[in-house]
Amino acid sequence: APAPVASAPAAAKVMVVGTDAAYAPFESQNEKGEIVGFDIDVAKAVAAKAGIEVKFVNTPWEGIFNALGQGDRDMIASAVTITEERKQSMDFSDPYFDAQQLIAVKEGSKVAKFADLKKLKVGVQTGTTGDEAVTKLLGKTSTNIKRFESTPLALKELESGGVDAVVADNGVVIHHVANNPGSKFKTVSDKEFAPEQYGFAFKKGNVELQSKVNKALAEIKADGTYDKIYAQYFG
Ligand code: ARG
Repeated sequence: APAPVASAPAAAKVMVVGTDAAYAPFESQNEKGEIVGFDIDVAKAVAAKAGIEVKFVNTPWEGIFNALGQGDRDMIASAVTITEERKQSMDFSDPYFDAQQLIAVKEGSKVAKFADLKKLKVGVQTGTTGDEAVTKLLGKTSTNIKRFESTPLALKELESGGVDAVVADNGVVIHHVANNPGSKFKTVSDKEFAPEQYGFAFKKGNVELQSKVNKALAEIKADGTYDKIYAQYFG
């Protein structure tokens, strides 16, 4: 048997990752309550490469960046779009996923492009890039914008007829439509929506973790790990 060590090694520092786990296929909770998804697998692969232990904590979107700023989370992995505005208050990893807004409507809807939503009731998740796009189109004071704390809640409202459309990230809308044929939704795309990229977010100035993650991200992109995870979720 190995001789007992004189002093216990310093506790390994665990990277606490915040995620709003109501955003399949990027992050969601399975039947066991475990947090799973594309972002989770990428973040796990990155952490493994960097030799960092990682723990995921379900964190409501509305408080997610505050939790990061206060140091309650070390990193956010939550399909976060890298935007100039957010860069003022947080730092991002290199991009790891391309996205764009996509419209969900009922199958019979006449909506054919984003501008068609101008006079309609539109559901969004509060504080997302979808919210931003719709706010720009309908106007800051529009009472036709219905804001929800999660994207699934906005989609539920579309199903019950409380809103005429939902604008959210394409990956999530496509996943929902494909997995809920009973909802009878269809998607409407529009090139007017700006291209978006997801990044992992860090507290502003946490260059140490940011560079570790960037290095590991480049490594999993180079060695095929990223492609394998991508194929698992997006074929
Ligand atoms: N990509 C969009 C944004 O950054 C929506 C992300 C929402 N993520 C989530 N897990 N609910 O604004």
